[in-house]
Amino acid sequence: MEPLKQKTPDSEKYTLACPDVDLEQIKRSFENIPRDPHFEAGYRCRTQSRYRLQDGAMRLLDRFPLFQPSAINPLENYGGIVRDYDDLPAWLAESPHFLRLVKTWLSFVPYDVQDFSAHQIRTEGGGKPVPEGRHRDGYDHVALFVVNRHNISRQSARTTVWDSLTDARLLDNVLLEEGDLLCLKDTDVLHFTSALEPSADANDSYRDVIILTTPDHSKIYDRYHR
Ligand SMILES: [Fe+2]
Repeated sequence: MEPLKQKTPDSEKYTLACPDVDLEQIKRSFENIPRDPHFEAGYRCRTQSRYRLQDGAMRLLDRFPLFQPSAINPLENYGGIVRDYDDLPAWLAESPHFLRLVKTWLSFVPYDVQDFSAHQIRTEGGGKPVPEGRHRDGYDHVALFVVNRHNISRQSARTTVWDSLTDARLLDNVLLEEGDLLCLKDTDVLHFTSALEPSADANDSYRDVIILTTPDHSKIYDRYHR
C-alpha cells in the first residue's frame, strides 16, 4: 500500500488501510453477485442497498432504484435512466466487519450520518471500472473500498483524483490494494479508475469494490427530480 495520508483540515481525500476488517468475509459477499442488467457492455456485476445506522447497529432500508442524471453519468442508456438492482447479501447488515468498514469511512465524514448506501461492483476481464470517464458520483461524500484484485496486473486499475473546485489539478494517482479504503469529498473532487488488464494466462479476472455514499441514493433521486 502507498503512504497513508493523514487527515488535515483542508484535505479532500484520504487513503487508509482497514486492518480490523476481515477481507475474506467481505470477499464472500461477492460470490453470487448478479450481472448488471442495465450495462450493455456486459462486463459489470452490481448490487446496491440503503442502510440506517441506529444504536450502533445497521439496518437494511427499503429497496430503491438508482438514478444518476446524464450530467453526472453520461454513459448512453445508463446515466439518465432509473436502474433497479438487487440488495447486497442480507447477512452483511449483521456483519461486524462490514460495520467496522462503514464506521471507518464515517470517521472521515465531518458530520453525523444516519442513512447511507452501499454498492457492490464487480468489473471483469479487461473492463473499465469507470466507463463514463473522469467524473463525480453525485453525492456529498463517497468511499471506495477495494475488496479483490483477482488475476489483474499491478499497474492496471489505478485510481486518479482531481480537484474540481479550482483548476482540476491532479491530487492523487494511487494504486489501491485489496483492503484499501479511499475516502472522497465528492462535491469537491473528480475521480477515475483505469481499465483492468488481465494477468497473462488468466481466464477469470475481476476487481471487486464496495462504494459507500452519503446521502443514500434515494436522496440523490430526489435531488435531481425536483
Ligand atoms: Fe465513481
